[in-house]
Amino acid sequence: MQKTLVLIKPDAFGQNHSGEILKIYEEAGFKIVAAKVMRMTEALAAKHYAEHIGRPFYPALVEFMTSAPLMALVLAGDDVIKKVREINGATNPAEAADGTIRKLFAEDKTHNAVHASDSEESSAREIPIFFSAAEIFD
Ligand code: CMP
Repeated sequence: MQKTLVLIKPDAFGQNHSGEILKIYEEAGFKIVAAKVMRMTEALAAKHYAEHIGRPFYPALVEFMTSAPLMALVLAGDDVIKKVREINGATNPAEAADGTIRKLFAEDKTHNAVHASDSEESSAREIPIFFSAAEIFD
């Protein structure tokens, strides 16, 4: 079964939208096979967002992602990587389609409610950053 890493970011988590977001993923047919509440450190951010280091938005991204707790998840299901990206909507909520999580809960490109792996390579790289094999129940 394909797996993807999802982060319910500090904005959505802090505003108590986790339940609604989990409901959307579950109603789409995906299984939650790992979950934890945690606070991202700068070191963890540098690992997870390695490809963005040096980009103009990187300092604001790290400041936001380390500012408060978030919820990390692994979701499993058929074609889950692509489908969860569709459910999440465009990175910029101003461009996100109606009914997507970012249209519902995101404020701007930085405070954009959720993250999800964008490819099989990304999910294989990202999941072990947040979860040990023993924490994943697939
Ligand atoms: P995420 O899916 O977590 O992956 C990288 C993050 O960088 C992205 O969501 C956005 O929150 C942020 N990001 C990407 N592009 C920009 C941008 N142009 N300006 C600000 N933040 C961005």
